[in-house]
Amino acid sequence: MSARPYVRLCEVGPRDGLQNERTPVPTESKVAFVDALSAAGFPEIEVSSFVSARRVPQLGDAAEVFARIARRPGTVYSALVPNERGMEAALAARVGKVSVFAAASEGFSRANTGGTIDEVIARFGPVVRMARAAGLPVRGYVSCVVRCPYDGPTPPQAVRAVVERLLAAGIDDIDLGETLGVAAPDDLARLLDGVAPAAEPGRLTLHLHDSNGRGADNLRAALALGVRSFDASAGGLGGCPFAPGARGNVATETALAVFESEGYDAGVDRAAVARATSAIRQVLADAAS
Ligand code: HMG
Ligand code: MG
Repeated sequence: MSARPYVRLCEVGPRDGLQNERTPVPTESKVAFVDALSAAGFPEIEVSSFVSARRVPQLGDAAEVFARIARRPGTVYSALVPNERGMEAALAARVGKVSVFAAASEGFSRANTGGTIDEVIARFGPVVRMARAAGLPVRGYVSCVVRCPYDGPTPPQAVRAVVERLLAAGIDDIDLGETLGVAAPDDLARLLDGVAPAAEPGRLTLHLHDSNGRGADNLRAALALGVRSFDASAGGLGGCPFAPGARGNVATETALAVFESEGYDAGVDRAAVARATSAIRQVLADAAS
């Protein structure tokens, strides 16, 4: 057991990393990617999404991936679920945790989920009830917490309002998504300050994308501001098909290096992450050629 303070790192590469790939990734390669990541010892791996296969074709095999992965004790295997129909499929696939997803801006809400913020949050009611009945935790994402590709800058108060509504809906694991990857440390300070009356930084997860090369700076700033839970993707894969211009998540390798240099420990094996990244990069290169 490390003497350094713990930081929780959720690996989202199989979901956020692969959802945006243009070339199809074979199911067996996704299974191998998740299994390779399992060897690294993450507390949680976001495996896939139970969403419309017409809208996100890359993740249309979510049930099959869940059926074939080897589940390591100590790792929670989670999935995105937008509505009751997705929840039924997720339960059948024996997911360990579900994540609903809302946005802090109306433009992205419509583009991503085909509804207003109000309509999308209303869909979460049955999901939360079904999760409670099955004893599963529910995470609630809030996207575009700094900027929206359609509506421009997002006021922190708009993020706080959505966080309050997710908490009121019974979701207590709140994940703030900087979907576009354009934030600077000052933006994160304003965001966390604005959201604090609803949820203190130590209670939040931060899901950073990195389009502007500020990923490491932002992680350092967030640690200094009290955040102790992050998402990242192996090799920095990823992006959202409904957020034009967004690049990948902050890389898991970057996050682990920052945690170490700042004196924190995520309990994740860096060599195992490097093996997983190198294998999936080869798969993506082969698929593209
Ligand atoms: P809807 O309200 O039915 O409207 O779906 P729709 O017209 O968009 O529906 C499309 C089709 O999906 C319809 O069938 C529905 O029946 C079907 P079709 O007419 O094409 O035959 N459908 C479903 N199929 C499978 N599973 C379901 C399901 N529900 C409806 N659960 C919905 C609304 C949200 C489902 C749809 O718009 C959708 O799937 N959108 C994709 C959302 C998505 O996965 N976005 C990317 C993930 S979010 C993200 O990346 C941000 C994040 O990383 C944080 C951050 O970075 O900020 C989390
Ligand atoms: Mg994302």
